[in-house]
Amino acid sequence: MLILGEILRPSGDGGPGAGNFFTEKNMAYERKTIDPAQIQAQRDICAGIARRFEEQGRRPLALVDTYGCQQNEADSEELRGYLALMGCGFTQDEFQADIIVVNTCAVREHAEMRVLGNVGALNHSKKNKPEQIIAVCGCMVQQQHMAEKLKKSYPVVDLVFGPHELWRFPELLKQVMDRHKRVFAAEDSQGVMAEGLPRQRDGKVKAWLSIMYGCNNFCSYCVVPYVRGRERSRRAEDVVAEARELVAAGYKDITLLGQNVNSYGRDLGSELDFSDLIRRINDIPGDFLIRFMTSHPKDATEKLFKTMAECEKCAHQLHLPVQSGSDRILKLMNRNYDSAKYISQVELARSYMPDLVLTTDIIVGFPGETEEDFEDTIKLVEKVRYDAMFTFIYSKRVGTPAAKMPDPYTREEKQRHFDRLTETANRISGEKHKEYEGKTVKVLVDGETGREEYNLSSRTNGGRLVHLKGDRSLIGRFVRVKIVSSNTWALYGEIV
Ligand code: 5AD
Ligand code: SF4
Repeated sequence: MLILGEILRPSGDGGPGAGNFFTEKNMAYERKTIDPAQIQAQRDICAGIARRFEEQGRRPLALVDTYGCQQNEADSEELRGYLALMGCGFTQDEFQADIIVVNTCAVREHAEMRVLGNVGALNHSKKNKPEQIIAVCGCMVQQQHMAEKLKKSYPVVDLVFGPHELWRFPELLKQVMDRHKRVFAAEDSQGVMAEGLPRQRDGKVKAWLSIMYGCNNFCSYCVVPYVRGRERSRRAEDVVAEARELVAAGYKDITLLGQNVNSYGRDLGSELDFSDLIRRINDIPGDFLIRFMTSHPKDATEKLFKTMAECEKCAHQLHLPVQSGSDRILKLMNRNYDSAKYISQVELARSYMPDLVLTTDIIVGFPGETEEDFEDTIKLVEKVRYDAMFTFIYSKRVGTPAAKMPDPYTREEKQRHFDRLTETANRISGEKHKEYEGKTVKVLVDGETGREEYNLSSRTNGGRLVHLKGDRSLIGRFVRVKIVSSNTWALYGEIV
């Protein structure tokens, strides 16, 4: 079981480098690769469970509820892959489900509160259906205090497992079924690598493709490195093979996922870096788009911007989280760049791709953030002019260095800054969207909106949302549209 307090130095100082927060024992990086035979054994367990349900003459239903980031979405596709091998169909109705899996996030307290509220409410469905199995997995439960909370205060939960145990979900579920006992599994691990898990993808047009797991950056506010372990890159052959399969299956929009894709390959000791990987995927024949996220500004290189500009399938879209515009706060955050370096990177990226769509993440109310620090953030935002921004109020995370920093400002002050930042972000997004009006752009139609007028949704190369009117047979196709109107959140177009 991972114990946050154990792997942290008693007085994390927020200084640069991941090593600062490790004890000697944890300094050495271990990469635990799961033998393909073990994955096969998990598939065999799934087949056994499917037979069991068949003998009972019923088709079980499963519900997978996902919180948090795209990596969690991708993980949930693997959970569904296993559940499908167990013969499960899928439902959104907790009263119908035989198996419920809640895949959680630990990045902010708000997400954890939502999970706990929703898990607590499952008492009702379990009362109706006492044989229902409820599992809670993902980042939240990799924190010992949360695993303990579930154990003590949520008896409705039968199974708890951390992200490093996902590959053996069938085995853990079978233990619950056989023993009629609660099972808790969240191994203290710096990282597991498992290839060849079954996967049931969510859509037919857009696909997630994980290229690496974990994070080495230890931003002082962030819990991810503690719960997801160290950076582990998948082998390029495996990534390219999966991209080929996606293209062959008709996927048109592939998003490469990693906490910091720019450090892809470093842990493999190979010459091949993230830019080289993009080129390899770009070389796969077919009409499709390559996107990626997330890029850490300290590692984004000119080579990457050049590669993006030169690879015709690579979207001119960059999510480059700045987190703050104040150099003082960036230092306390352990981000390893300052605002000048960040801005020069944006300028460089735009010099290669004048049509670049740029988005970011910003945290408001980091411990000790003053009025002046906040003004620096507003100044940076006004200078960079993002197409869209994801803004968050700082959330204290147990075991991180920032949790020990003095935090004198009130929630109301932070909220006031947050509101002002959101207003600024929305105004700029609206202005940027207005610039599209009258222009003709190529979009990929990716789904239906459920509304009569503008019934289809689509994305530009840069990832901006465009609503259209057209036949649903266009889903999965690239079309040209003239943008006729816009607002802060979306563009509206007519097919030309
Ligand atoms: N509080 C608020 N926001 C956070 N993020 C990460 N950790 C925290 C935290 N403790 C934000 C960062 C990151 C995004 C995924 O979530 O902006 O880029
Ligand atoms: Fe968290 Fe991202 Fe920083 Fe890693 S790079 S510690 S995931 S904010």
